[in-house]
Amino acid sequence: MLWIWALSMGALDSWGSLTPMMSAVEGGLPPGSAFLGPFHMVVLHLPIGLFSFTALLELVAWFRPFEGLRRVLATSLGLGVVTAILTSILGLYRSFGGDYSAEILALHRNTGLALTVVAALTLVLHSAVLRVGNLWLGWYRASLGLTLVLLLIASHHGGSLTHGQGFLTQNAPPVIRGWMARWGAQEPRSKPSEPVAAGAVEVAKVFEAKCVSCHGPDKQKGKFRVDQRESLLKGGQSGEAAVVPGDPGRSRLMRLVLLPASHDDVMPPSGKVPLSESEILSLMRWIQLGAP
Ligand code: HEC
Repeated sequence: MLWIWALSMGALDSWGSLTPMMSAVEGGLPPGSAFLGPFHMVVLHLPIGLFSFTALLELVAWFRPFEGLRRVLATSLGLGVVTAILTSILGLYRSFGGDYSAEILALHRNTGLALTVVAALTLVLHSAVLRVGNLWLGWYRASLGLTLVLLLIASHHGGSLTHGQGFLTQNAPPVIRGWMARWGAQEPRSKPSEPVAAGAVEVAKVFEAKCVSCHGPDKQKGKFRVDQRESLLKGGQSGEAAVVPGDPGRSRLMRLVLLPASHDDVMPPSGKVPLSESEILSLMRWIQLGAP
């Protein structure tokens, strides 16, 4: 309880201050979050379904209203708000684990919380329609529309957190991806701006194929990312340098990829496609050359 109180004070204080507060919680994760957090992924489908259902009922009310329809609609909207509040609370728990990209996480959290607030407002406006009459209908419909827009945005950012950015369109036909690129919706992950040193391309391909899903822009497992040179050299939570240019033997990254497949610390973790010999050799050569 104390923790939820602290969180809401942080939220009132300013949205931005939430994230540093979270990492400041003593002992890493707040009590119960490892257990409760994952239920966010289960419960979130309820408000999505209920708000969509409400919108469909509103369409029916528009074209073919029937006796008692508004009551059913009020019930589904009300249940939507209740489950959205539950989802938000679980989402705050969830945000502690997972090593998500802070930027997308903030977008997802803020749109999710805004959605909950606007949906509650929609419920109030709808009960005004029920009690006072159609005077409030326009306001209520506008608010319902905004609820749906926020629902779409929040769900999309949520999807990007779990499945990676561009998860919806990565296998789209080239025509659609062309449009997306033109709208700027899907920025290319990396733009080669300087001439690239020999060996670096091969190594970049290895990272892209085998590491970036856990150590990239979307997730930073072990607080380590391979898509920026500085953090690639520096390493992650162990505090040990991942890459010591010129010295593969002292590079933690090299030691981790050379561990036996069954070892707890092997990279990529067991269960993932391991590095091939030639991939390991290109990493080693690249480090020996000073990690250009
Ligand atoms: C399925 C997810 C996943 C993939 C893929 C993955 N890693 Fe990791 N990596 C982790 C996790 C989780 C940790 C934290 C391990 C721990 O805390 O014991 C980690 C930690 C590390 C660390 C240590 C960081 C530190 O200083 O503590 C390095 C180095 C590393 N990984 C390199 C790689 C490389 C190189 C690849 C690709 C060949 C890779 N990882 C692929 C999940 C992954």
